[in-house]
Amino acid sequence: MTAPQEGIFVEEPPCNTFLEYDLSPGGEPARVRAAVAAGLGLARQDGQHLVVGFGDALWRRLAPGRAPEGLRSFAAIGETGGQHAPATQRDIWYWLQGPCPDANFDLALGIDRALRGVAELKLETSGFKYHGDRDLIGFVDGTGNPKDREAKAAAALIPGAGGGAFVVTQQWVHDLPSFEALDVGEQEAVVGRTKVEDIELEGPAMPADSHVSRTDVSEDGVAMKIYRRSAPYGTVREHGLYFVAFACDLHRFDIQLKRMYGLAGDGLSDRLIDFSRAVTGAYWFAPSDADLAAVFGTTG
Ligand code: HEM
Repeated sequence: MTAPQEGIFVEEPPCNTFLEYDLSPGGEPARVRAAVAAGLGLARQDGQHLVVGFGDALWRRLAPGRAPEGLRSFAAIGETGGQHAPATQRDIWYWLQGPCPDANFDLALGIDRALRGVAELKLETSGFKYHGDRDLIGFVDGTGNPKDREAKAAAALIPGAGGGAFVVTQQWVHDLPSFEALDVGEQEAVVGRTKVEDIELEGPAMPADSHVSRTDVSEDGVAMKIYRRSAPYGTVREHGLYFVAFACDLHRFDIQLKRMYGLAGDGLSDRLIDFSRAVTGAYWFAPSDADLAAVFGTTG
């Protein structure tokens, strides 16, 4: 039976908190297991969900023999100094979704206390809903996702992993003034969809270097679908998108990212990276509930 962490597919909660941890020196597997179990066991409010993921190196230590084929760390894409996606692979990733910020804050505090002395918090970001499902650039984000639960599961869950999923996270910092300096038609050419109605550009109107053209990929007739669950984040001074996506195979992320960064051999890159830059990048494994129960004695 397939039993993914339920929060992966729950799309309603408006408040998101993302936490990334690095293991502290001397974080022995037994201590890490106990600390992660304590975090997973914390009380949650109605409608609150917790998803946990692990970096390749830690998961192999915590759960020998339970790593899905192909699990690996994120590697930087492109040249440092130029447009590139940096690698900031860490050990543990938490995604808290809830109806309100206070519930997420309490749960995040509890998780952090459970991990004290075992792992160190390296990134904390709160994501919110922006004018429905829009990204801060003003375009709807998520339309191209698979539609029903079955199609989402097919895109997100690793075959034979009981409901486990690969995850990519990247924190993107937007340059809104430069994007907003474009007129709406030019913005639409960058994204590949219309801004207000959210309709995909067609035929000659769709540029080959639009974001949709670079990420809507098929190989041997198979659409390389992923399931995106990103959230806008930030303050007036710094803001952007905490990009989160799930996939059945890391290759799907690799190919989309290579096409975005001009490394797919066709001489094209994604116009969107002229207006936003990735400042973190990591691949995670979100184990199935059965794997979580086996390793930690509790589920997500
Ligand atoms: C600054 C960061 C990003 C922003 C603001 C952004 C925004 C958007 C928007 C507005 C759309 C069109 C609506 C939709 O279908 O959701 C879209 C589509 C899409 N994006 Fe992104 N995105 C970002 C990064 C990424 C990254 C890093 C990837 C892949 C690793 C990606 C993969 C996709 C895919 C697969 C689609 C759907 C294409 C289709 O089949 O129509 N995006 N994105």
